[in-house]
Order: sequence, then C-alpha cells, then structure tokens
Amino acid sequence: MNIKFKLITYIIVTIMFMACTNNHNNNNTITYSKVELINEKVDSLIKIMTLKEKIGQMNQYNGFWDVTGPVPNGGDAEEKYDHLKNGLVGSMLSVRGTKAVRAVQKIAVEESRLGIPLIIGFDVIHGYKTLSPIPLAEAASWDLEAIKKSAQVAAAEASAAGINWTFAPMVDISRDPRWGRVMEGAGEDPYLGSKIAVARVEGFQGDDLSDVNTIAACAKHFAAYGFSEAGKEYNTVDIGHSTLHNAVLPPFKAAVDANVKTLMNAFNEYDGVPATGNKYLLRDILKDKWNFKGFVISDWASIKELVVWGYAKDNKDAAKMAALAGSDMDMESHIYIYELEQLVKDGVIEETIIDDAVRRILTVKFELGLFDDPYRYCDEAREKEVVNNPKHLDAVLDMAKKSIVLLKNENHLLPLQKKGQNIALIGALANEKNSPLGSWRIASKDSTGVSVLEGMQHYKGNNLIYKKGADVSVGDTKFVNEIKINTTDRSEFKDAINAAKNADVVVMVLGEHGFQSGEARSRTDIDLPGVQQELLEEVYKVNKNIVLVLNNGRPLTINWADKHIPAIVEAWQLGTQAGHAIAQVLYGDYNPSGKLPMTFPKNVGQIPIYYNHKNTGRPVRDESNPNLVFWSHYSDVDNTPLYSFGHGLSYTSFEYKNLTLNKKVLNIDEDVKISVDVTNTGKITGKEVVQLYIRDLVASTTRPIKELKGFELIELQSDETKTIHFVLNKTELGFYNNQGDFIIEPGEFEIFIGGSSNTNLNTRFELK
Ligand code: BGC
Repeated sequence: MNIKFKLITYIIVTIMFMACTNNHNNNNTITYSKVELINEKVDSLIKIMTLKEKIGQMNQYNGFWDVTGPVPNGGDAEEKYDHLKNGLVGSMLSVRGTKAVRAVQKIAVEESRLGIPLIIGFDVIHGYKTLSPIPLAEAASWDLEAIKKSAQVAAAEASAAGINWTFAPMVDISRDPRWGRVMEGAGEDPYLGSKIAVARVEGFQGDDLSDVNTIAACAKHFAAYGFSEAGKEYNTVDIGHSTLHNAVLPPFKAAVDANVKTLMNAFNEYDGVPATGNKYLLRDILKDKWNFKGFVISDWASIKELVVWGYAKDNKDAAKMAALAGSDMDMESHIYIYELEQLVKDGVIEETIIDDAVRRILTVKFELGLFDDPYRYCDEAREKEVVNNPKHLDAVLDMAKKSIVLLKNENHLLPLQKKGQNIALIGALANEKNSPLGSWRIASKDSTGVSVLEGMQHYKGNNLIYKKGADVSVGDTKFVNEIKINTTDRSEFKDAINAAKNADVVVMVLGEHGFQSGEARSRTDIDLPGVQQELLEEVYKVNKNIVLVLNNGRPLTINWADKHIPAIVEAWQLGTQAGHAIAQVLYGDYNPSGKLPMTFPKNVGQIPIYYNHKNTGRPVRDESNPNLVFWSHYSDVDNTPLYSFGHGLSYTSFEYKNLTLNKKVLNIDEDVKISVDVTNTGKITGKEVVQLYIRDLVASTTRPIKELKGFELIELQSDETKTIHFVLNKTELGFYNNQGDFIIEPGEFEIFIGGSSNTNLNTRFELK
C-alpha cells in the first residue's frame, strides 16, 4: 500500500475510533471541535513517527537549490535533499512561487515515508510583491484597521505564491534609533505596539487559518532584541525585570492572546542567557505562564550561536540548551537534525520534549489545511490573479498616505498650490524607485516603487524642474551589502542651487536610502547621511521656501532643518506607491494625520530618549538656585526631544477642551470614564489621533511620567466638535511587578489628553 494512504488510513481509523468513544449529543451525532479533531490527528501521527522523523519536523532549511534545475549532486545541498526525501525536514524558508513550492512539497509529500507536508516560511514584512510602507511608517498611521488591511493584502499575495507562514510581525519595542531594525517594528511604546501587533496578527491569520488567503504569523524576536546595547546589532541586552515585563513583553503577550501561531527567538542574550537557550523566557513565561500553544522557531542559526556566545560548549550542548529551553524548530543551524537523536538516546533530553515540539508544529500544519491538500497554496492561476493585483496598489497607496507625518508647517507653506508655481524638486531620493521599497522586500522586483518625481509629475499645473544635487550613496546598493555613502561628490550642487534660485518653492527629498536601515544597519550618526546636509544648507542660502521631505527608516537628528526649514514632512520608505502618496499630501489632496511612533532626538547623545521615562529623584532644576548643577540633565543640550512621541500636524488645527471624569474617587473595581471635546478649528476637514496618557503617581515600583493607555483616530469637519469618550479599568491602570505578575495598586493617577505625548491638558483621580 502507498505510504501516504497508510498515513491517511491511520488518521481515519483514529477518527472512527473517536466516533465510537467520544461525545454524542441528543441526536446521537458526534460533536467534535476542530481543535479536538486536530489534537487527535496529531497524536495519532506522532505515534507512528520514528524519533528521527520527529526531529526532522524540527528542522528548517533555507531554499538550497534551484528547483527548476537538476537535483543537487554532492556536498551540503545533496545531503539536505536527502533529508527532504527522507522526511527529515519540517519546513523550508525563502522558497517562493507556486512552481518552486510545489516542487519541494512534492518531494516531502510523495517521497518521504509519512508524507508530512512542509510549512513554507518567508519574510513577508510589509507586503510580498506589492509593498506597503515599512512597518514603522505604518505604525505612524495609528490606524489599526488600515494596518490590519495591509497585512491581509500581504497574506493574500504571499499565500497565492505558495507561502503559508510569515516571519512577521516584528513586535520588538525599541528606544534606540541607532538600531537599524526599528524600521521593522511599531516604535517605542508597548501600548501602541500591542495594538499594532494584534492588528497585524489578525490581518495575516484572519479568523480561520485554513482559509487559503491567510498565513500563520510569527511574533518576533523573543525577547528584548530592541534593547541591544548602544543600538549595535546583535549586541548584549542588559535590562531589568521592570522594563522586561512592562515594556518588552506586552506586545508579545498581546500577540499570543490574539492566537499568533509562532514566535521567533531573538539573537541577543537576556540577563546573561542567549534568548534561544533562555528557559525563563521560553518555558517559564511563554509556554507556562502564557500557555502559548504554537511553536517557537529559532532565528537564523541562533542555536549554533549559543556556542559563539560562550553559553554552550559545542553543537550538541547547544542543541540541548535550545531544546530544553523551548525552541521548537531549528532555522538553519543544522544542529537539531544531527544532535538531538543521540541526546534523547543518552537520556539527556526526554522524548516528551521532542513530542511536545512536534505536536506544536504539526498542529499548525493541520490548522493550515496542509494535510487536507499540501498543494493548496500552489494554484498557478490564483498566483497570476492575486500577486500584483492592481487592487492592491490602491490598498498600499491608502496605507502610505496614512503613514505620512507632517512634522512642521510654518506659514502654511504646505499644501502646495496646484497651479502657477515654479517648483524645484531636489535630491537623489526624489528620483528613486528602489529606495522607497525599504530593505525587507525579497520577493519584490527592484525599482518598482513610484518615485516622488513621478508622483509630482502627475500634477501638471505647475512648472516642475528636477535636479539631483548629490547622490546619497556610491556604487551598489544591495540587500546583503554595506552601503557606501557619498561623502565627497558635490559636483551637482551647482545645478540644484541654480534651479532653487528661480523657484517659488523648493521640495527637497533627503534622508536614508532604503538599504541604510534594517537588519545589521546600525548607525552611530543619524544626521542626514553624506553631503545631504550641506546640500540643504547651500540651497537654503538662495531660497528659504523649502519643503523638506524625509525618507528614512528611523528617527533622524535634523536639528538644523527644524530650526531653519519652514515645512518638514516625514515620509519614511512608503513602498510601491510612495511617490503618489507623497505628492498627494504635498498638494493637499490628502490631509496628513500621522503621528510619530518614536521620539526624534536632538542629538545621538540623548539616546535612549523616549516619552515614557521615569521621573528620577532630581527631574528639574532648583528654581530657587538656578545655577546649581545637581539635577538630571546634560550641560550641552536640554532634556526635551526634537519631536515627541505622538507628534504630528495636519493642514487644519484642533483644540482640546472640557476634560472631564465621571468621578474623582473610585473603587479599584470601578471603571474610570473620561471625556474630552475636540474641535476642528481650521478651515478644512482633517483627522486627529486623540491620545490618552496616565501617570500612576506612587507605586511599589516607580512608574513612567506618562504612559499611553488609549487613543482614537477621529475625523472632524471644519468647526465640528466631537466629544470623545475613554474608559479605563484595571487593564490600563495596573502594571507588572518584578516577578512578572500583573497588579493594580490604589492611589492617585494623573490623566493627560491631547494630540501628542507632549500634552499638558490634565486632571486627576484617586483609586481607593
Ligand atoms: C532575521 C529574522 C528573519 C530571518 C529569516 C534573520 O536574520 O533576524 O527576522 O526572519 O533572518 O530571514
């Protein structure tokens, strides 16, 4: 009998057995939940698997040969190919396209003894081929519905291309813009980060994982990767328990509560133990306390790196540490497959540990429907229809417009007039079709983004002249390569300056190339790279009417620009439709409403700078003795950031009034009801993110001076007022103690409401 039929027969027999023994309702029909059925199938399957086959499920390989060419002959690739044929590979990553996925799946399903299908992983970070803005930019929209929709579009395209698991969302909180990966997260705040984590998980996974348009999500990197010392990639992390539980873990917890199917280890250590081998994080917190039922994948070769960290003495030791800690699948360390079997045979690792990991992995495969049809994601006709579908362009354009943050707009320089102006557009990034795609876009074709120049050319009423001014980088810009910045070539400054002289308005697009942020792109200097600052200053000498459009994957230190340039637009890397989104905002066809998800520092020395910091014992100058030096400050720069978390302007203006509470004294079980009137005091319709912050004034561990605990995105017409209501209860008023237990303490709380974290509109209440 064909092996596959053997497996299926076994599972059917199990189900028939369940039918004879399990729940019967009144009509004597059997009622099983989907979960029970899957559990039974998984158990039956595990029973017929050899130890080696089980360990095979815990093994993941990167795509290792061109599936359209001959089968690998010799070396590493041949060995991996043999593993695939023999059921010793549970998953592959970075194999994409229905043809390629079908080819590898066919080997797993039709040649291995049990025919267990592969789960196919891919970094679908902000889209598959059609790209949304980078995740940090999306976070600036504070629009959870739009963010969810963006993940849905990404899932639709990826699943149509054979993929059924994304390594996203990255939910790492970070307070350090030197760290290149801040572009991939939702910024510095655990509350906003948690809401966005849920939106993204729901967008990728939908309500039903077996729907062919959805894919399994992966909350990464567990945990504390965003706190790498000095923002240096892959560095040590040394934070205390209060920060771990209150800042780092909440978005992971939110993702787990939203039923995220997988988590990924982080490259860093936490408290002297690398995250991949960290039992405290993986077993004690994630699997035991939070009752996470999905599986944990290592990061790329992070099991092997336990040896390099000096935490494991060799590969065998590393396999032991990672498996015991709770890492279920090995991404590209090639260690589980060679070491775990002997460790079990020697009694170092109990087989129940292996069974537990395999149970988690198989469950997700069943939930994805891969056992019903391993080729269900491999429909070529669907791939043609869905990938790059023109409708997706509208979706990513919408997301891109919502992600733009207006940082400054003096004298209403923006929006630009649509007719009769001479506009000089300057900057290499203005003519870039590749950089807007960011650095995480493996499946997308290079240079398929709409440039700012193209976007602006759509508005034909003005006289538009473009000059590059200076290159941002020199030579190749490639995903895996270090970017070389142009620090010397100013030869085209002159043309740009001449163009600026004759312009009514100068639009300068400056900032980072898309490949300057992302993994392994840490920077110690986050000014405008290369000669761009000089270019800006030279142009300013001849024309002060400058609109600066920033392209970047992280907060930048743009002090000079903030002081001199009248209008500044934060336009990040906005994906496939970047240029159209920027042009529509510049010309006022879209009124910007984005708010910063991360603080912009005045200089690198202020980092880490974040709005929800602690008070310290000496927070302010002693006004009775202003020359005294002994208070928490720097001598060369003040304590305020350049732009606060939550900051963002509109072409209209808003006023906040009448902040009221239902009661001033409440019992600990009561809800606090808060309302505030928001009025659009300008002339056009606009959107505003109404933000609510709290401060717990006295607690058993010190609390931040402000914490975001609610927000609402509203739209108001000119002169319109809306009363906005918030309700706070234990969930928002409590916090984690140093043991990781969520507690709520009586005492006084302060509430702040406004359009940024900088707001002073406040009131107080007491919790008895
Ligand atoms: C990154 C992960 C990513 C993995 C697979 C690693 O280098 O840290 O975030 O998912 O590669 O591409």
